[in-house]
Amino acid sequence: MRLEIDYLLDTKAIEKDDVRDVVNGLQSTPKSIPARYFYDKYGSQLFEQICDLPEYYPTRTEASILKQYAMAIVKRTRADELVELGSGSSTKTRFILDAYKDMDTPLYYTPVDVSGSMLETTANNLLKNYSKLKIQGKVATYDLAIEQLSTYSLGKRMIIFLGSSIGNFNAEECDRFIQKVTTALNSGDYFLLGIDLYAQLYPLGQKPIEVLEAAYNDASGVTAAFNLNMLQHLNNRFQGNFNLELFKHKAIYNTEQNQIEMYLISKENQSVTLDSLNLNIEVKKEEAILTEISRKFNLLQMKEYLDKNSLNLIETYTDDRQWFGLLLCQKV
Ligand code: TRP
Repeated sequence: MRLEIDYLLDTKAIEKDDVRDVVNGLQSTPKSIPARYFYDKYGSQLFEQICDLPEYYPTRTEASILKQYAMAIVKRTRADELVELGSGSSTKTRFILDAYKDMDTPLYYTPVDVSGSMLETTANNLLKNYSKLKIQGKVATYDLAIEQLSTYSLGKRMIIFLGSSIGNFNAEECDRFIQKVTTALNSGDYFLLGIDLYAQLYPLGQKPIEVLEAAYNDASGVTAAFNLNMLQHLNNRFQGNFNLELFKHKAIYNTEQNQIEMYLISKENQSVTLDSLNLNIEVKKEEAILTEISRKFNLLQMKEYLDKNSLNLIETYTDDRQWFGLLLCQKV
C-alpha cells in the first residue's frame, strides 16, 4: 500500500533508444559509451563501494553537509513530495527523511533509478525505518521520470539531485536537463542540487588536482572494476564479447575544462562484436573509449547559471574547505 514502483525501462521504445545510443557511441570517433550503462545490478553495488572509498571525498562531504543542514532545509521548504533523481541506496537522503520524522506532513518519496534491483531493495528498507513514508519509485532514466512527473503533482515538490551527478552531463545535456527540471516544477517548488567544486571562494585556494584525480583512481581498484563492468553490462545486454582483460581504466583531470575524464583504454588491436545489435567494431591498441566526464564547478558560476534558468538560488550550504556545495533553489 505504501509502495508503488513503476517500471518504465522495459518498453520497445526504450530498447530502441538504448540500441541507438550504444551503436552511435561505439561508432563515433572518439568512441564513447553512455554513462547509464555503469548501473546494472553489480555496477550499482560497486558504486556504493566507491562512495565509501577513502579517496572518494564527494559522498562523505555531501553527507556531512546534509547531516548538518537537512533540518534547516526541510523547515524552510516543507515539501510534500520529494523526487530524487538517481537515488541509488538513498543513504544521504535519509538525513532529509529523518528531518521529516518530527513533522506531521505525510511525505511522498519518489526515488528514480535505472537499477530496478537497487531501487526495490532500497525502497523496502526505507519503509521499515520510516513509518509515515509513501514511496512511488520509478525505474527510469532521468528524462523519462521527469516527463512523467510533469503531469501530476502531490503538492509542493522538491526535486533533489545529489552526488554532483549534474557534472556527468556535458554543457548541452546540462541545459536540456535543467530545462526539464524546471518544467516539472511549479512556481515556488524547490530544487536541491549537490555539486563538486574545483574552486573555493577567496581566501581559500583551489582543490588540488591530486585530490580530484585520486577520487577516480582509487588504490584498491574499485573504480577500475566499476568502469570495466560497463563492458560486462554491454556483453550481457547485447550478446557481446568484450574481453575485460584487454582494457584498462584511466581517469585524468582536464584543467582547461575543469572535468575528470574517464576512459577504457584498449591494450591491443582488437575487434569486438555485439551480436544482438549486429555490430562489429575495431578498437586500436591504446585507443580510448570515453565512459564518463565529471565536471567540477564554482559556486558563483553555478548561481548565475541557475538564476538564468528560473531557479532562484536561495541558500548555499558547504563544508569548511568548500570542497562540495549543496544548493537550494526555488522555481521563480
Ligand atoms: N556523479 C559521480 C561523480 O561524477 C559519479 C561517479 C563517481 C563515477 N565515481 C565514479 C562515475 C567513477 C564513474 C566512475 O563523481
